[in-house]
Amino acid sequence: MKQVYIDTFGCQMNVADSDRMELLLFHSGYARTTHMEDADLILVNTCSIREKAEQKIFSLFGGIKHLKEANSDVVMGLTGCLAQQEGERLLKRIPFLDFILGPDHVEHIPQAVDRVLETQQPLTWNDFDKQKNYSIPEVSGQPQKATHPSAFVNIIKGCDKFCTFCVVPFTRGREKSREAEEIYAEVRTLVNQGAKEIILLGQNVNAYGKRGLETPVAFHELLYGIAEIPGVERLRFTTSYPGDVTPELLQAYADLDILVNHLHLPAQSGNNRILQVMRRGNTVEEYMALIETLKTQTPDIELSTDIIVGFPGETESEFEDTLKFMEQVGFSSSYMFCYSPRPNTPAAEFLDDVPEPVKKERLQRTIECQSRLTQIQGEKYLGKEVEVLIEGHATRKGTRFMKGRNPHYWQVHFSGDENGFGPGDRVKVRVEAVSGHTLRGQAVV
Ligand code: SAH
Ligand code: F3S
Repeated sequence: MKQVYIDTFGCQMNVADSDRMELLLFHSGYARTTHMEDADLILVNTCSIREKAEQKIFSLFGGIKHLKEANSDVVMGLTGCLAQQEGERLLKRIPFLDFILGPDHVEHIPQAVDRVLETQQPLTWNDFDKQKNYSIPEVSGQPQKATHPSAFVNIIKGCDKFCTFCVVPFTRGREKSREAEEIYAEVRTLVNQGAKEIILLGQNVNAYGKRGLETPVAFHELLYGIAEIPGVERLRFTTSYPGDVTPELLQAYADLDILVNHLHLPAQSGNNRILQVMRRGNTVEEYMALIETLKTQTPDIELSTDIIVGFPGETESEFEDTLKFMEQVGFSSSYMFCYSPRPNTPAAEFLDDVPEPVKKERLQRTIECQSRLTQIQGEKYLGKEVEVLIEGHATRKGTRFMKGRNPHYWQVHFSGDENGFGPGDRVKVRVEAVSGHTLRGQAVV
């Protein structure tokens, strides 16, 4: 078999796309290798959400140029969001690249490689598909790999929200949902292969089913449908958009035992003027009302979020509103970013007037605020039992332990290996210590 090396940057959608490309390439004679030097085909699945992500990709290509110089038969492809955003321009910037493939053409990866091999010409394939909805046909036979108890399932792609800072609508196109039956079939297959936890994926999962489906199914209905599939022990989804949260979705948390009591709901800012210029479509009060309802119906719910600091025009007091808001909600974790202007986005035209050192200082304060909140949340677990879905073993400072996650998505490291537990088992762990977003303890037998 030939060998393919795949490097993945960015979000879980990209991880899922890389896995899909691996599967499709397996059926056209490629096995995945972790050694770039041995590869006949090198794929870099890229992200362009912030400028830093782009820079990393260009420096990676700088570092692998010698592989192409040493062996011109090695095929090199750049896939993902940067491929969509920059297209042919990348061939000028990285002249030794063989092809550019946009995210809508993940299914065409074998054809792209074949075409390059046949024609010996560079190829750019990054138009958006014209379909109304989104299909990922089942491919039988998986490449041999260790089963992970958590499996990702794409349910929707694209985003129609056009928040003023965000490049996703330009790189991933319009919102398109997969037929529910196709999703159920994939979930059943994954469960048969050993998956215990299903993680539904999309740039905007809770916009699922809004249009285009032959059989209309709303997002909450999809959750109830998956909950009926025997063998699904846990269900999560990411990422959701506050404006698309419905009362029915909030109710699903109360109704469905397998739906974990953790919601990742990006807020971006805690100031209404900034939210408006970001075009987020909701106010702080609306976000809070939603959280209040959820906390009333599902008292042990935990929330995490995404925050951007240093958005154009953000004043010190507007930034402080974000810190206050984070405290008020009590997020268990956050992804926090400095604002980065992105091509084609409306905010790229705004004056990026918050100086870089101020952005960095605000980011630092946001991280400190979140660390405090995480610590407070973590301490609540001390002395309590949590349910852990085991992912595997790890070793730190010579000590071997097991690791997994609780329903609220905390990493849990624990001892108790002698009981013969393995990946995919759910066990109770008594928490003895907390550090960062990790709980440590002993298995309860
Ligand atoms: N669908 C999600 C967002 C996905 S993008 C939502 O509903 O908000 C992932 C995160 O990257 C965003 O939530 C945002 O916090 C961050 N991000 C996106 N564009 C950015 C930019 N231009 N600068 C800094 N952070 C950005
Ligand atoms: Fe981006 Fe806003 Fe969509 S942050 S992914 S445009 S919801």
